[in-house]
Amino acid sequence: MITPLPVDAAAAFYVVHLPEPDDFAFWRATARTLVQCAVPPDRIAWVEPGGTGDLFAEGQRQLPEPPGDAPQVRASKPFIQAAETAICHSDSARFALLYRLLWRHQTNSRVLEDRTDTDVRRLDELARTVRRDKHKMRAFVRFRAVEDADGEERFVAWFEPEHHILRSNAAFFVNRFTNMRWAILTPRGSLHWDGAVLAEGPPAQRSDAPDGDPTEDLWRRYYASTFNPARLKIGAMLKEMPRKYWKNMPETALILELVAGAQAREAAMVEAGTLEFDERPQTLSAIDQAIHACRKCPIGELDNQAVMGEGPQDAALMIVGEQPGDQEDQQGRPFVGPAGQVLDVHLQQAGIDRAATYVTNAVKHFKFVNRGKRRLHQTPTAKEIDICRWWIEGERQIVQPKLILAMGASAARGMLGKTVSVSKARGMPHQLDDGSELWITAHPSYLLRLDGAARAEQERLFQADLVAVARRVAELIG
Ligand code: URA
Repeated sequence: MITPLPVDAAAAFYVVHLPEPDDFAFWRATARTLVQCAVPPDRIAWVEPGGTGDLFAEGQRQLPEPPGDAPQVRASKPFIQAAETAICHSDSARFALLYRLLWRHQTNSRVLEDRTDTDVRRLDELARTVRRDKHKMRAFVRFRAVEDADGEERFVAWFEPEHHILRSNAAFFVNRFTNMRWAILTPRGSLHWDGAVLAEGPPAQRSDAPDGDPTEDLWRRYYASTFNPARLKIGAMLKEMPRKYWKNMPETALILELVAGAQAREAAMVEAGTLEFDERPQTLSAIDQAIHACRKCPIGELDNQAVMGEGPQDAALMIVGEQPGDQEDQQGRPFVGPAGQVLDVHLQQAGIDRAATYVTNAVKHFKFVNRGKRRLHQTPTAKEIDICRWWIEGERQIVQPKLILAMGASAARGMLGKTVSVSKARGMPHQLDDGSELWITAHPSYLLRLDGAARAEQERLFQADLVAVARRVAELIG
């Protein structure tokens, strides 16, 4: 319904009443018409059901008719996708923001590329918040069993979403719990699934949902048994599972108790030498899968992907770098960026076939800080390297190389578990506990940071180390 205020027709002011707060199809069709009629953003008030814009609800008028020669409305796919998500946000200014961007899109199709633009940033923020709220709902809805009047079992959950995500999350719950009869009640509306048909219902109250059932004890016991004090990261836990969700989750009654005891338990495990991760995967592909889920240190929480080592499983030579860089993170392969190109040139000159070598990193995720559009490398801390040793040790046990070449101080620490000086340790073998040899050299990125004579000198030393390694590998494999 479009309602203009009673003002001069040339400067008509349209009031658009959205039938539902998340009705993207309606917003899109209306916005398209308004753009075609050249109605500027400041001549429209967008009102959602129950919204304060009801202030404007006076008079009636149909949507204006676009002229026959109105140009096509332009909207890029990324804009449509972001808008469809952002419309579920509860910010009442979202419809106007989307229209403003659509309007600007008509004269600047690259408007979304300007990450410094206030509207673009706000769109991003809204879409990100909605995605997070959807994810939280998927993770934290807890069903309680109830018996219907007809004696059949049904499951009911109470959840308080921050945004209008119920409808857009419905398919997830139907697919996940297809064979159950369930209802999800929220203050914004409810969903009811009877095993075949999904129905929407009115908003509900906390007291409409059951409070607890015997399966909750099971949940609590399960949670307590899987709670690993060595993994406790309170900041990360609160970020993942904010306190506001706790009241509807049976297991959280235990959290404070478990947290209180965790430090003491961890200290005892260190003391007893039993501080361990779970069982280590036994194949390279299982390690690859596991590192993608690894959140044992904060680097894995960044917007990156884990990068697994690559090369033959029976390689005699394993080369270890520090961590994936920007390019490696994007491509999901080690040493494919600028440092990788330097490495490739020197490997070739030293007669080392990269394809016959297992190439990996001490740390599996790219650690960086955002600077404008760029992601700047950050050196991993000793603790982060030490945590990631779990994975490189796994790769080493499977590949069983005769010689490992660690490039740079982080790689050396990853192999030795202690910090050594590269300049003192390079160019000679270090015996490892399994009989293999560790050789240490500079990291190729170090060469990239130098110029002139200093660069030439370091290139020479790097090359000499690689030649020595090539010779030694040949001796070791006989
Ligand atoms: N630097 C590294 O240490 N490893 C890579 O994979 C790329 C750059």
